[in-house]
Amino acid sequence: MKNNQPKFETTTLWDFPTQNYGDRPHGDNKFSGVTPAFVIWNLLQRYTNEGDLVVDPMCGSGTTIDVAKELNRRVIGYDIAPHRDDIIQNDARKIPLKDNSVDFVFIDSPYSDNIKYSDHPKDIGKISCEKEEFFNELEKVAKEIYRILKPGKVMAWLIGDHWRKKSGFIPVGFKIYQRLLKYFDTIDIICVVRRHQTSNTPIWHKRAKEFNFYLRGFKYLFIMRKTDVSI
Ligand SMILES: C[S@@+](CC[C@H](N)C(=O)[O-])C[C@H]1O[C@@H](n2cnc3c(N)ncnc32)[C@H](O)[C@@H]1O
Repeated sequence: MKNNQPKFETTTLWDFPTQNYGDRPHGDNKFSGVTPAFVIWNLLQRYTNEGDLVVDPMCGSGTTIDVAKELNRRVIGYDIAPHRDDIIQNDARKIPLKDNSVDFVFIDSPYSDNIKYSDHPKDIGKISCEKEEFFNELEKVAKEIYRILKPGKVMAWLIGDHWRKKSGFIPVGFKIYQRLLKYFDTIDIICVVRRHQTSNTPIWHKRAKEFNFYLRGFKYLFIMRKTDVSI
């Protein structure tokens, strides 16, 4: 790490040993489901300029806000259950911003019902990825992101797959990607190494061997552009 800043990633495999970089917090690394700050840092380096408006519709512990502010971007963070005063309470399926008004969107959505974010009934993280409803609700978010983005601008969506004892493998990433393709063109797909997983313990590695399944090792980062303005 140079000057307290993360490495500028030049390949499609992104790995970083810690959630945070530098000497100030970016989001809260105790928040279950926090985004690695270097992911947002790398995206803002490539797809935004100083003064651009960055939006995160599911802002969680505020990682996007902290990284964006430090890089002199304007930023709005929403969440259904805000964890800080600078996060606006809002359902990501209806974002209170004008059409074609935003320069960049980052989103790290729930991946299923595996993490309890809040008691809010509209928390999409209460719906299992085993149900098609989960993807239908996230598609509503994708449509909103499409609406608020300026033509030609970029959004990035971080998401991981699931394995359930009952249902087996659920390709959450591919299923979301199929929905995103209805609206956006793909710039690239990044593989982000998952670290600090609660399942990274000897007992889980033993189970993976015993029951012949794989523990999740990566997440997808779909980087996509709004090119078509017909919707
Ligand atoms: C993976 S976390 C986001 C983590 C965040 N990027 C961070 O670094 O802390 C997913 C977030 O989605 C929020 N969420 C779930 N359903 C939502 C909805 N309908 N509208 C807005 N936010 C929602 C949850 O409250 C949770 O904070």
